[in-house]
Amino acid sequence: MRGQPALADNAPVSNLSLIIDCDPGVDDGVALLLAFASPRIELLGITTVAGNVSAALTARNARVIRQIAGRPDVPVFAGCARPMVRVPIEAGHFHGESGLGDLALPKVADEPGPHAVDFMVRTLMDRPPGTVDLAVTGPFTNLAMAMILEPAIIPRLRRVVVMGGARTEGGNITASAEYNIFADPHAAHVVFSSGAQVIVHGLDATHQVRATEARIAAIEAIGTGPAKACATLLRFSRHIEHKIVRGLDAPLHDPCPIAWLLKPELFDTVPCALMVETASPLTLGHTAVEFRLSEPSPIQWVTRADGQGVFDLITEALSR
Ligand code: BDR
Ligand code: CA
Repeated sequence: MRGQPALADNAPVSNLSLIIDCDPGVDDGVALLLAFASPRIELLGITTVAGNVSAALTARNARVIRQIAGRPDVPVFAGCARPMVRVPIEAGHFHGESGLGDLALPKVADEPGPHAVDFMVRTLMDRPPGTVDLAVTGPFTNLAMAMILEPAIIPRLRRVVVMGGARTEGGNITASAEYNIFADPHAAHVVFSSGAQVIVHGLDATHQVRATEARIAAIEAIGTGPAKACATLLRFSRHIEHKIVRGLDAPLHDPCPIAWLLKPELFDTVPCALMVETASPLTLGHTAVEFRLSEPSPIQWVTRADGQGVFDLITEALSR
């Protein structure tokens, strides 16, 4: 399912028309708060998918974050409730029962509307080709389904910027797989083999962006509702990471794709070929990343992230 060849283009874009596809999730919540607070981003819609918690909760959580950000103008569309092939898995142990850690949740109304996949297809077909970016911070189910439903969206996408996968860092849900890819490896295969230009923030990059107490305190000191919510989400992550993993500060995964769109100079990328393991039960969801290319590739692997730069960007945005 190859679209037109897309060549790497890392030049900053002055006006970003963006769809964020996510599974909030504490770090998805921080990513949304960053996007809401960035005037250069025209947020066309938020689409949600089953992932860290159920599809009903991720849709609810996106509306909660939207309410905290004071942005009722941005529509939220609920999407796929399970992965394409594999049995569903959740990650509530990292995100709390609600999916948003210990954040106090304001009441939000249900919002029945078109399915997330229909919204993606309609938006990409209606807008001029090459003008819409897509950030994916959950399992890739919605985007893969949209590509299957309407392959004509593939050459119309500007860039797909994702959080997923791991190369040097190994895995975080199994020894060799990162959660977003492991949760729907078949969907990830569809996206990575589509021919779309994909910029991949795997654990190699996101583990370089850590929520230290000083960085969280700088955000909290801003004192606004969105900044305080952001600090609460980050502190929950930091607490859980210290408890469950290795005593390191929590990595900030999902804001990285949004930060790349706003300030690509904070990151280094290398063109690569990328295949997802879908056959072996032992290494299911592993991303095989190959830098030795025999032909040009539309996929770029992020190798370096400026952790302080990403936090400065979040702090500046939430200070506006
Ligand atoms: C990814 O998995 C989820 O738990 C996080 O929200 C992030 O998208 C990190 O592996
Ligand atoms: Ca996520």
